[in-house]
Amino acid sequence: MIVSAEAPGKVILCGEHAVVYGQPAIAVPVTQISARATLEETGTGTELTLIAVDQQRTVRYADLDLADPLGVIIRLALLALGETTPPLATLTLSSTIPIASGLGSGAAVSAAIVRVLASYVGRQLPAVAVSELVYQVEKIYHGIPSGIDNTVIAYTQPVYFIRQKVLKTFSAPVPFRLLIADTGLASPTKIAVADVRKGWETDPAKFETLFNRCGEIAQAAYSLIESGHPLELGPLLTANHRLLREMAVSCPELDSLVEAALDAGALGAKLSGGGRGGNMFALVTDETAPSVERALWQAGAKRVITTVIRNP
Ligand code: PMV
Repeated sequence: MIVSAEAPGKVILCGEHAVVYGQPAIAVPVTQISARATLEETGTGTELTLIAVDQQRTVRYADLDLADPLGVIIRLALLALGETTPPLATLTLSSTIPIASGLGSGAAVSAAIVRVLASYVGRQLPAVAVSELVYQVEKIYHGIPSGIDNTVIAYTQPVYFIRQKVLKTFSAPVPFRLLIADTGLASPTKIAVADVRKGWETDPAKFETLFNRCGEIAQAAYSLIESGHPLELGPLLTANHRLLREMAVSCPELDSLVEAALDAGALGAKLSGGGRGGNMFALVTDETAPSVERALWQAGAKRVITTVIRNP
């Protein structure tokens, strides 16, 4: 038997970092990039073996370090499915989502693994269960994750999210286009999150003002998308980028991609995710998309993805 499952990448439209402190944030799936898990039965006398294609790594499940994220998600998924022994199979993992770049690669790989194991035992886990399992692994990557990454990836729909309080999936009645550009700089979210915490501890008044403003932006952005006015999001996105700069989670490469996109006619632009590298995105129209994309490449983007947010 062979079974496969996928999970998409994501971008945080607005509210990252502030979401860790209880402010609302919005994230959307990016289905042009994805992680894929394929489980192929190998039969008796064998044991579960993992092939991580992108890392050119083959390892027996039994040999994985206890804290290895791949081992952790397999263990948790098997437990949730009521399985006592791992399948006698080869689990092949591949992904087109760049790692450590704010596009949710870790969460997507975990979600694909949970889904493929569920499908192998003939079950379909609800999104809330997939999200909860992936969250456990996100803790290894992030320290204190808000839960927005596992949520948007497990639900594979746009989400309006307030940590431990609100989870609304929503749709965009009027589609809108984003160009997502990669600085090529890998940046672990954990470090940026920890630095924001240090900043907040040192100057709580300043950081709480910044977090509150990010929250207001997320709320306003949500209303604009839901009411069918996504092209009015631009100034909110750019304002969110400036707030993230004040939190010291931008970097010269992100700033120059943002400025290049704005100069070329993007309606708004901002970094997305943990920052300090990784990806930014620009809100564009069909007319401005080609010139903004050209400007992003000229400003040093290592890759540009186009995605359209629309109703499923
Ligand atoms: O995984 P990233 O880099 O997209 O960042 C997640 C968003 C943060 O708000 C920075 C952290 C979190 O847990 O919400």
